[in-house]
Amino acid sequence: MNKNIVLIGFMGSGKSVVSKRLSSRLKRKVVSTDESVVRMEQKSIPEIFSDSGEDHFRQCEKKVIADIAREENVIIDCGGGVVLDPENLAKLKEKGTLFYLAANPEILYQRVKKQSHRPLLNCDNPKEKIEELLTKREPCYKQADHIIDTNGKSVAQVCKEIVAKMTQK
Ligand code: S3P
Repeated sequence: MNKNIVLIGFMGSGKSVVSKRLSSRLKRKVVSTDESVVRMEQKSIPEIFSDSGEDHFRQCEKKVIADIAREENVIIDCGGGVVLDPENLAKLKEKGTLFYLAANPEILYQRVKKQSHRPLLNCDNPKEKIEELLTKREPCYKQADHIIDTNGKSVAQVCKEIVAKMTQK
C-alpha cells in the first residue's frame, strides 16, 4: 500500500502549496480537510465560525477526517487545528505518514498577514495570537512522523525532503 502523505502545521506553514506541488510531482490526488468541510456545510470557513462557532467547525473537521483518513495513496492537506484532537491524529496515522511543516512565528506572520480568510487570526494582534497558538499546539504537531523545517526553504526544497523521506521507508 502507498501510504498517504499527511501535511500538518500551523496556518501559513505552506501545506496547501506544498500539497499541490507534490500532487503534480507524484501524480497523487490532494484531499483538503478545509475544502471538505466547506463542501459539507455549503459555507465558507469564516461563515461557519461566525454562524455556528469554532466547536461546530471542529466537529465538522472530525467528521470529514474520519472519511479522508480511509483513503489510500493521496496527499492530505490538513487545516492547522486538526491536530488538536488526538483521535484525528490517530486516524490519519493509520494509513498515512505525517509531516509537520515547521516555521517560526515571524515567518508565519509574514505569510498570513495579507490574508483574511482565517477567523482565528482576524484579531487585534495576530502576531501575538500566532505565538500563543503555536506554543500551545507545538506538542501536537511534533507527533508527526517527520518534522520538516521550512524556514528559509523553497517549496521545491520542502517537497524534495518529503519525497526523500517517503522513499526511504
Ligand atoms: C485553522 C486553520 C485553517 C482552517 C481554520 C482553522 C486553525 O486552515 O482550518 O481557519 O485552527 O489553525 P489552514 O491551516 O489551512 O489555514
